[in-house]
Amino acid sequence: MIADLIKRIFPPKDVVGIDIGSYSVKIVCFTEEKKELKLKDWGYIPLSFKPDVPPEERRLAIAQEIRTHLKKKGVSARYAAVSISGNSVIVRYVKFPKLTRKELDLTLSVEAEPFIPFDIKDVDLTCYILNDTIEEGQPKMDAVLVAAKKEAVADKLEIVSAAGLEPLVIDVDSFALETLYERLQPKPEGTVLMLNIGHKTTNLSIVSQGVTRVVRDIFIAGAAFDKAISKLLKTEPSVADVLKKSRGLLVTDEEKQAAVSDYDREGIAVSKAATGVLHDLYTEVSRSIDFYLSQGAENSVSRIMLCGGVANLGNIGKFLSSEFKVPVEIIDPFSFLGEQPMARNIPRETLPALSVAAGLALRRMKDWE
Ligand SMILES: Nc1ncnc2c1ncn2[C@@H]1O[C@H](COP(=O)(O)OP(=O)(O)OP(=O)(O)O)[C@@H](O)[C@H]1O
Ligand SMILES: [Mg+2]
Repeated sequence: MIADLIKRIFPPKDVVGIDIGSYSVKIVCFTEEKKELKLKDWGYIPLSFKPDVPPEERRLAIAQEIRTHLKKKGVSARYAAVSISGNSVIVRYVKFPKLTRKELDLTLSVEAEPFIPFDIKDVDLTCYILNDTIEEGQPKMDAVLVAAKKEAVADKLEIVSAAGLEPLVIDVDSFALETLYERLQPKPEGTVLMLNIGHKTTNLSIVSQGVTRVVRDIFIAGAAFDKAISKLLKTEPSVADVLKKSRGLLVTDEEKQAAVSDYDREGIAVSKAATGVLHDLYTEVSRSIDFYLSQGAENSVSRIMLCGGVANLGNIGKFLSSEFKVPVEIIDPFSFLGEQPMARNIPRETLPALSVAAGLALRRMKDWE
């Protein structure tokens, strides 16, 4: 009774990180006990809306799912951190003339306009100044510019409020991954390519010595695999989705040989379709690496960190490792927690999809420090 009252007067500071994707909703909440971070809750809620469900109805159904999950798990958090990505946000690393924060705020929309492919009236603009620099003898500053479509932000806020939570942070998927990376790699080394391969979007970040250099979203992800598989095997995308999860890629000569010997037509077709999509993804990712190198970087990517649902595609690590010729690691977003039972009991294939939600929940923790 008294504990309840105290909770109401001093609500728990814990923040629920909620990653609302097109395929699933991911939930992560940490709490601090004796200065140590503990996993308090996690959730993976698959979404399967029919295409004709109106967006408003979708949002309310998602909110209801979140509410039900938190109630079932007995999580009494008040605040949420959510994120946006894909074509509702643009992130650009830019050079601006050297200005004070006040001057920049006054002129931001003018300075930002050339970098933003949307109508400037439809976006919320934010700019973080990174450092001062000199370009052709002129004082400049490196900055990161974020333009988020107002409508996309409003949609996420509506879901959070309808779920009975207060939105505290609106982040960008890639920044949430950066927050997670800082936890996973307190002493960053080399140049890391992070790929979060979801259903509609792949979030790409190139992080060099712990500093993000390139952020980009690519629209090749799980749905593209489903489309390619269903085209080749003449099946529904939903059947292709199941095949994608159960079959994976044939990478080595032995694997290919064994599939031929076993007359495994289905396995060969799934692998062929998925390999085609991965080649497209490889081309796009290579363009971003080339862009990064063209900015004067000394070293290319030395490691790939993979997350999102598609990180579970059979043999994807082996495939990317042989294409990019660097080691590939599949992210366990809770590896920094050690042997905490709640984290260790999460199914292995769920872990990489929880990365953005973990980064969102950590972002808040970081802000408190
Ligand atoms: N075991 C598996 N093997 C292959 N693909 C898988 C596996 N499990 C999930 N996926 C795929 O991962 C994708 C969903 O990933 P995720 O949950 O990260 O997406 P999302 O965040 O909802 O999407 P987005 O952010 O792009 O809107 C789906 O295409 C799903 O089929
Ligand atoms: Mg996602």
